[in-house]
Amino acid sequence: MSGLPPHETDLTRAHALPAHAYTDPALYALERERIFGRTWQPVGNAADVRHAGDFFTSDVAGEPIVVTRDAGGTLRAFYNVCRHRAGPVAEGKGSRHALQCKYHGWTYDLDGKLRTTPELGAAPDFDPACNGLVRCAVEAFGPFIFVNLDADAAPLAPSIPEMAQAAKDRGLDTMTSVGRREYEVACNWKVYVDNYLEGYHLPHVHPGLFRELDYNAYRVETRDLHSSQIAPIRPPDGTHDRKHPRQYRHAQQGDEALYFWAFPNWMLNIYPDNMSINIVVPLSIDRTLTIFEWFLVDRVTSDPRSETERAMAFSDGIQQEDIEICEAVQRGLRSRGYPSGGKLSSARENGVHHFQGLVGKFLSRN
Ligand code: FES
Ligand SMILES: [Fe+2]
Repeated sequence: MSGLPPHETDLTRAHALPAHAYTDPALYALERERIFGRTWQPVGNAADVRHAGDFFTSDVAGEPIVVTRDAGGTLRAFYNVCRHRAGPVAEGKGSRHALQCKYHGWTYDLDGKLRTTPELGAAPDFDPACNGLVRCAVEAFGPFIFVNLDADAAPLAPSIPEMAQAAKDRGLDTMTSVGRREYEVACNWKVYVDNYLEGYHLPHVHPGLFRELDYNAYRVETRDLHSSQIAPIRPPDGTHDRKHPRQYRHAQQGDEALYFWAFPNWMLNIYPDNMSINIVVPLSIDRTLTIFEWFLVDRVTSDPRSETERAMAFSDGIQQEDIEICEAVQRGLRSRGYPSGGKLSSARENGVHHFQGLVGKFLSRN
């Protein structure tokens, strides 16, 4: 039982999640198990496991993970936990012929098989073949590596078809990272995702971005496990742009910003001249790490570095505005002044409603 009220599918009658969904540590533990333990999570960059022998370590919902490229070139992922007495078999990243546990030196092939068990002594019932590293599902998606703790999970890209196709069409497969920033936010991870999934707050929280986009044409389309927000970019008109320099100086009629979100916690923001991924990592019930990484689309500009720096600075300003409102909302959710989840806007909050329905659905699955 998740302790959440049943999801109202009719948006005109729907309310936001109740405050305890954002403040109850028991619900947070359940989310780790049933949401983050069963969905594809971005864990690192494909460039770090390009060649046979490469590996890197990461973390998914508090679980230590190691990703390897084995001797035959196959991408693998395992819990970074030795089958002897639970020591770590890898640290950081690098290239090796085998993984060796830091504690007593047992070694594992990069495909997870237990290779050596120094000084184990007599062990008549011990079968090394049954003591390999425990496997997770792993996939490359564009320049990223994703892991699913559910080893039998359905593949990632077919679960988010429109998003995967748009990323491919915009050249995600061939992009390289040009910058990364991390921000810690004092709010529950769902406060940040809720906020991301609506343009309703644009006029009030992001006046700069509001000027760039055609708010009236802003729309959110929801799919099974992902959604997209489409915002036509207003081409510069030269009049009030003098006072407020425009971000999208190259924008042309028909250009759009595409904001894709995949359940539960990562987004791809596709602009005419750059792309970024956002990853929303829960650290505790009311602390969230947001990771932004930018990728360059090599068209449009003759000076890609400065364009990217400008895009990062613009995004940083928007992020500061979002952090401020998300932290204030978390304080509001803890208040006695918010006795129940408020009415959602059927015109502007269908993305939030979709996300909150998925949260309820995953939490209620045993
Ligand atoms: S815990 Fe790994 S060798 Fe002992
Ligand atoms: Fe925002």
